[in-house]
Amino acid sequence: MNGFVKFIVLILALAIGNVIYKANINEPVKVPPETWWGPGDPSKEDKSIVPFKINVSNEVLADLKYRLKNARDFVPSLQGIQQQYGINTKLLKEIVNFWLTKYDWREREKFLNQFPQFKTNIQGLNIHYIHVKPKNVPSGTKILPLLLLHGWPGSVREFYEMIPLLTTVQKDKDFVFEVIAPSLPGYGFSEAAVKPGLGVGPMAVVFKNFMRRLGFDYYYVQGGDWGAAITTTMAIFFPDKVKGIHSNMCMSNSHLSKVKLLAGSLWPSLIIEEKSKHKVYPLSDYVSNMLLEFGYMHIQATKPDTVGVGLNDSPVGLAAYILEKFTTWTNPAWKNKADGGLLERYTYTKLLDNVMIYWVTNSITTSMRLYSEAMNKDENVFDDRHVVTIPAACAVFDSELVYQPPSLFKDRYRKLVQVNAYDGGHFAAFEVPDTLAKDIWLAVSKFENS
Ligand SMILES: *[C@@H]1O[C@H](CO)[C@@H](O)[C@H](O)[C@H]1NC(C)=O
Repeated sequence: MNGFVKFIVLILALAIGNVIYKANINEPVKVPPETWWGPGDPSKEDKSIVPFKINVSNEVLADLKYRLKNARDFVPSLQGIQQQYGINTKLLKEIVNFWLTKYDWREREKFLNQFPQFKTNIQGLNIHYIHVKPKNVPSGTKILPLLLLHGWPGSVREFYEMIPLLTTVQKDKDFVFEVIAPSLPGYGFSEAAVKPGLGVGPMAVVFKNFMRRLGFDYYYVQGGDWGAAITTTMAIFFPDKVKGIHSNMCMSNSHLSKVKLLAGSLWPSLIIEEKSKHKVYPLSDYVSNMLLEFGYMHIQATKPDTVGVGLNDSPVGLAAYILEKFTTWTNPAWKNKADGGLLERYTYTKLLDNVMIYWVTNSITTSMRLYSEAMNKDENVFDDRHVVTIPAACAVFDSELVYQPPSLFKDRYRKLVQVNAYDGGHFAAFEVPDTLAKDIWLAVSKFENS
């Protein structure tokens, strides 16, 4: 196309995008109702907060050992193939051997119980959470509540290394965090909904009520993956409760952003820096990479219960399904490594802690259902209708699975105080806790001083 035609196409695209966009933001925000998601009787709401410790029975552990020892032989991976067809079974065998011979659950249980944990019932669901208050806080230092939200296939385990970094007073800061890290409903030790519909919007309502139960009316929220989607939704629904948000998976899917993304095919430099251009353009590569990596999403957004039967019955199947994500989503290049790169940023122990949280709670099926609830007729998380008007900060990790040009973020996050780019992947809290913690400190310094 010659320059003039390109120019006309661009102007038209922007004009159309702008019209559609304005039409969309004028839609009033509809906060979902406070549905009773659990079993039991709404008139007998239990408002207590009960201390909780993980304590898996010997029966569950003996059964796990039996299943690991008696797993059928794995099908050998193809010659010359590493993780490109899914997890390599030679790697899986090594991890399963580690699980059987070196991984000590009773030790890990002590590790996982190192922080105070509680359960409380919100809208019929017993919600499990970690609650860490800062220690040795000098007078004059503000204590700021921070809700940390994980995603799939993660758990609160992702936050263990980062929590002390956030709850320890810093010399040059006049505030410190009080961290509240819940398991999402249907994940780990939190109860799952018994009726359809608990998508991202309704979860935002659950967590607003959860924070109220704990006595917090004004707080910060941080999240990645589903946690990022819920974080953004809380900011849109409850701008008077959420003081600011920090996300390590900022996304803008407004019509305007989509038009800009298309326009960038003609003039990439309009929306993305030269060094990151290859992550998005040509768009055909971007889309084919999504097709390569998002098969799981289609399954989970349509038939989670069917695949869940197998995963819930086989610990090796569950580990294969979950750990494959920790290779590719941490770094797409790890697909081509025999060891999946797993030990470069994690340990088998850490990774198995997370798998165990799914196994001992039978929660893989209910965790996957979130995709079905968030991508159906009632809710489509990939169709932004509203903007975030409270202060926001984005940390962009360069191997992020759903990488978007950071220039699009302003379309959605109207008071963006910072966008910082780092080395790392999708599971930032778990992979590079120091980097993420520092970025949160930095963002909140700006929120507090603006
Ligand atoms: C776990 O439960 C068992 C059996 O009820 C009990 O004997 C043990 O003390 C508990 N352990 C912890 C760490 O609470």
